[in-house]
Amino acid sequence: MSEQEKKIKSLEELGISSTILKKLQEVGITTIEALAAANPYELSQNLAIPLPTLQKLVAQARAALGLGFKTALELKKERASLPKITTGSRNLDSLLGGGVEVKTVTEFFGEFGSGKTQLCHQLAVNVQLPPEKGGLGKKAVYIDTEGTFRWERIEAMARGVGLEPDKVMENIFYVRAINSDHQMAVVEELKDLIPKENIGLVVVDSVTGHFRAEYPGRENLAARQQKLNRHLHQLISLAELYNVAVVVTNQVMARPDVFYGDPTMPIGGHVLHHAPGIRVQLKKSRGNRRIARIVDAPHLPESEAVFVITDVGIRDPE
Ligand SMILES: Nc1ncnc2c1ncn2[C@@H]1O[C@H](COP(=O)(O)OP(=O)(O)O)[C@@H](O)[C@H]1O
Ligand SMILES: [Mg+2]
Repeated sequence: MSEQEKKIKSLEELGISSTILKKLQEVGITTIEALAAANPYELSQNLAIPLPTLQKLVAQARAALGLGFKTALELKKERASLPKITTGSRNLDSLLGGGVEVKTVTEFFGEFGSGKTQLCHQLAVNVQLPPEKGGLGKKAVYIDTEGTFRWERIEAMARGVGLEPDKVMENIFYVRAINSDHQMAVVEELKDLIPKENIGLVVVDSVTGHFRAEYPGRENLAARQQKLNRHLHQLISLAELYNVAVVVTNQVMARPDVFYGDPTMPIGGHVLHHAPGIRVQLKKSRGNRRIARIVDAPHLPESEAVFVITDVGIRDPE
């Protein structure tokens, strides 16, 4: 992305006529990001704007966001320079290649009590740290689908990293999603909230719970997967277009009936298997120790990291 391109921040700056601007607004396209993600064919039909005009505008929006062709070397430099959020454990950070990355969906999956929710809390605190301390100096959104968010943990973890607890809590936008439709609607709303409130991290804990409850059994598997895929697509484009880290959790049940392969393979298969991003399996170990392992990442070496859950948060073992 050139400096020139970076400067374009609003639709007005693309030189769009006020008539077209108004029509776009009517269908909720008010930002460069939204225009870049739009389908010019659909828009042309719905808004009675000539297709070539829309194709040009969408292409301009994509170029402004650096979404055109780039070389592999540019890609390498871009990826290497992506900011990361520390987990609180050096071991876990290095397993993740430096921490939880922006522009990426990171999934933590594992059994009940494996530390998924504690990690989400910790990241919602740590994203607020200044960059030199492993944060982004930004705020967090916490979408809670299971009612397991505890402000008391945020308070303790904030103290643990030397931040003022009330300030940290003020910078976490919490929402309890009551069902999968609500969960998806909330993500749509984030397109306004992220730029307005300088959000750097979006947590969905858990991403799969409502979908599993609403579409139980094998007979509903296809419908569930279809809707979940739409949700994941929402989250992926949120991460990529709005420059945030997206962290999701996925509870899997241990399966005593499985003799071969992985006994914590979730029933119904890995729902998030095909989504891009990083998938991290968490396992309980002795006492407060937990083991993290990256799965399905052909470019990363297979290795494990051990961390502990303490009263003040996620840390390395002594
Ligand atoms: N205040 C605390 N001090 C120390 N450990 C805690 C504290 N709160 C929770 N934990 C640990 O976190 C575990 C729960 O982890 P959690 O993230 O809720 O699991 P999951 O979301 O994967 O089901 C508890 O079993 C406990 O070991
Ligand atoms: Mg949990």
